[in-house]
Amino acid sequence: MSLGTVAVTGAAGNIGSVVREALRRDAARLILLDRVPLRPEAENEDVHTVDLRDPVAVEAALAGADSVLHLGGVPDEAPLDELLQANVLGTHNVLESARRTAIKRVVLAGSNRVTGFYPVAHLTGPREPARPDGLYGVSKVAVEALGQLYADKFGLSVICLRIGSFEHAPTEPRHLATWLSPRDAVGYIRAALTAPPSTRFAAAYAVSANTRRFWELPTPAVLDYTPVDDAELHAGNIPGADLPADPAAPQAGAYALPEFTLRHLRP
Ligand SMILES: NC(=O)c1ccc[n+]([C@@H]2O[C@H](COP(=O)([O-])OP(=O)(O)OC[C@H]3O[C@@H](n4cnc5c(N)ncnc54)[C@H](O)[C@@H]3O)[C@@H](O)[C@H]2O)c1
Repeated sequence: MSLGTVAVTGAAGNIGSVVREALRRDAARLILLDRVPLRPEAENEDVHTVDLRDPVAVEAALAGADSVLHLGGVPDEAPLDELLQANVLGTHNVLESARRTAIKRVVLAGSNRVTGFYPVAHLTGPREPARPDGLYGVSKVAVEALGQLYADKFGLSVICLRIGSFEHAPTEPRHLATWLSPRDAVGYIRAALTAPPSTRFAAAYAVSANTRRFWELPTPAVLDYTPVDDAELHAGNIPGADLPADPAAPQAGAYALPEFTLRHLRP
């Protein structure tokens, strides 16, 4: 099924680079945006050097897109001002462009870190209240809320993928629960881009089929993709994989520690 013209923000990043290669085959045209310069790697790719904080430049670059995969932003803990600018304002600019043009579907890069303070023993679903593990998580709560707003108020179709730990292979004990393999990432993203137009808003964890996962997998009614990889197959290569996890510990692991945020706050 052709995906039509798909715009990808943050296309130079870790996930963007992988997804770009996979989507190139299914999309009639790819519009690739990043603040760092990109080079077209195929005839159906257009590239734009754009700062997501600039609404006019974002809208100009997105012209002609049928859907947007919005990956651009700061992907980890940072001073709140940076997160508000890149993640919250950046997402607002993408959603505004969609509202003002013919873009029908926006897929947002949410994060598992919106619920990082739920304990490991709890199977967390996307409808539970947010418990962000840091300022980055707070910015992603706002990203998701913006998506919900634009769906409810302006009828845009928005799917927010709460991405797990995107890695080529899991390397630490937490990844045994949180890993998102590149293959499953592409599967979830393709499903989000092709979900029925009747989907107004959905939030779903994008995580591999890990034996130890603590997030609900999306139902087919929300997102028609069944993940295929399981981090458990890599457990033998991960030091500490055999140690029992504390069931009361936060799902975010070390990200939930005060120090992780304190280094971005005044002493
Ligand atoms: N990698 C993960 O495990 C993971 C987990 C959860 C959520 N996410 C989210 O997925 C998305 C992609 O993650 P990633 O790992 O590829 O991150 P990344 O840092 O590798 O890529 C992000 C890209 O966004 C671009 N960018 C940042 N600020 C920008 C701005 N103001 N204007 C234009 N471009 C800008 C960067 O240049 C970069 O190429 C992010 O939104 C991140 O928060 C990632």
